[in-house]
Amino acid sequence: MKIAVLSDIHSNYAALEECLEYALSKGIEYFLFLGDYISDIPYPQRSMLMLYDLSEKYKCWFIRGNREEYMTDYRLNGEKGWINGSCSGSLLYTYNNLTNRDFEFFKNIPNKLSISIPEYPSFNCCHGSMNFTRELLNINSENAKKALECLETDTLICGHTHVQGTFEYMGKRLINPGSVGIPWYYDGKAQFAIIHGTKGEWHEEYIQLDYDRDKILKAYETSGLNELAPMWSVLIKEAIMTGRDSTYKVLARAMEMCREETGEANWPYIPEKYWETAIAEQGISKI
Ligand SMILES: [Fe+2]
Repeated sequence: MKIAVLSDIHSNYAALEECLEYALSKGIEYFLFLGDYISDIPYPQRSMLMLYDLSEKYKCWFIRGNREEYMTDYRLNGEKGWINGSCSGSLLYTYNNLTNRDFEFFKNIPNKLSISIPEYPSFNCCHGSMNFTRELLNINSENAKKALECLETDTLICGHTHVQGTFEYMGKRLINPGSVGIPWYYDGKAQFAIIHGTKGEWHEEYIQLDYDRDKILKAYETSGLNELAPMWSVLIKEAIMTGRDSTYKVLARAMEMCREETGEANWPYIPEKYWETAIAEQGISKI
């Protein structure tokens, strides 16, 4: 029994293709997806179609991530609050490229699951935590300890942090497969996990794979995302190429500069010039 666990694809269809090909080459027929299928990278429909196609041929479990929640909430709340530009242009682009089938899919998948397979221990899985889609359960953090303390099984499989690894605490275990689409560390190689069921136990194996990143860089040009979210695209491309994510740091600095100069900083109304300066301060070159 082997299950491929994939999280945080973020529309990276080239990375997803590589991971799925690898998993299928190992004879895997069970797939667990932990959410954040879309956003930040061009052509979200390409990843979604790959997932629909896979689910017709193999057993797939799907969980909703915070990015899917953003999309469904934006639709429910009358499409207000996002504009083009580096704060929300990428979200808006993604939203405009989703289909009714995608929205139905996001609506119908659960936020969390408890999976029981005969002869193997049950385990829990979610995107951020079992309580909050956006909670970060970083390895060794107090949040992760609390999450494991109140877990009803011995194993929690979750994503969202984009950092691959295992955390053991009080005889329980948190397994994070990392991110397929915007992975941190390992030089930006696409990450996922395979959990192997042997003798009634689960053992995790972590995978990192190189993939055609130039294909994704070119997609930023052809899709128009470079223009719709200029500095955000620079940051995501930097993360894709290096495995280092500076988005939070740069956004915080851009907002700080905006506040200092204008007296206020209201997301998503942060002028591009502050993003540009914040990116330059970090020494990030524009790809
Ligand atoms: Fe997430």
